[in-house]
Amino acid sequence: MARDVIIACDFNSKEETLAFLDRFTDCKPFVKIGMELYYAAGPEIVREIKKRGHKIFLDLKLHDIPNTVNKAMKVLRDLDVDITNVHAAGTIPMMEAAIKGLEKEDGKRALLIAVTQLTSTDQEHLETDLLIREPMEEVVMHYAENAKKAGLDGVVCSPLEAGAVHARCGEGFLTITPGVRFADGDAQDQKRVMTPKEAKKAGSDYIVMGRPITQAGDPVMAYKRAVKEFLS
Ligand code: C5P
Repeated sequence: MARDVIIACDFNSKEETLAFLDRFTDCKPFVKIGMELYYAAGPEIVREIKKRGHKIFLDLKLHDIPNTVNKAMKVLRDLDVDITNVHAAGTIPMMEAAIKGLEKEDGKRALLIAVTQLTSTDQEHLETDLLIREPMEEVVMHYAENAKKAGLDGVVCSPLEAGAVHARCGEGFLTITPGVRFADGDAQDQKRVMTPKEAKKAGSDYIVMGRPITQAGDPVMAYKRAVKEFLS
C-alpha cells in the first residue's frame, strides 16, 4: 500500500464521526478508528465508513493469549479493514496467531502492525512497573524485530524512530507514526513531534494526525496541507 496520511477520528459517537467525514466532499481520507469510537459505536461504524469508500486502520491494540487473539482477529477479518494492530508484548506466538486469524481464504489479509512500547511509558516505569532493565530504544527495536520475525508488516512508532526501525528491520517494514504536528501548530500532549515534511524525510510510511486536523477551523484544508507536505 502507498504512503499516506491517516486521520485519527478520535470521536465518541457515530454521528460526530460521520458529520466530520461528510466535510470531505472531494477526497476520501484514510481513517483511524480507535478504541473510543469502536467501543462507543461498535462494528457498524467500521462498515459504514468502509461503505463510504475510506480505507481504515482499526487501532484496537489486541493483547491476550494466542487463542483469544486468533479468534478476535477472525471477527475483525470479516470487517475487511486495511490495517489493524496488536501489542508486540503479547509475544511472537501471539502475533503469529493474530496473523493466522486475519488471513482470508484466498490468503489475503489486512496489514498487521505491532505496538512496541507505548509512548506514554517512560524508562522509569519500564524498569519499576514492568521490570524491564534495558534502555527504552533497545526494547522498542527488539519488539520491532520480534514483530518482523512473527511475519507482521511493521510497527507504530515515533517518526523519530522510523529511520532506526528501517535500519534494523528493512526498508519494507512499515512505520506508522503518530506525534505529527504542523510547524505553526500546538504540540498538545505529544512530547516529541515532527512536521509531516520532517516525518517524510525521516522515512515514515504513514503519518497519523488527529487533533491538528479534527480540531482545525477548516479540517479539509488542514488534511490537504498534511498530504501536500507528506506526499509531495
Ligand atoms: O491528536 P493526535 O494527532 O495527537 O492523535 C494521535 C493519534 O495517535 C491518537 O489516536 C493516539 O491515540 C494515537 N497514538 C499516539 N501515540 C502512540 C500510539 C498511538 O498518539 N504511541
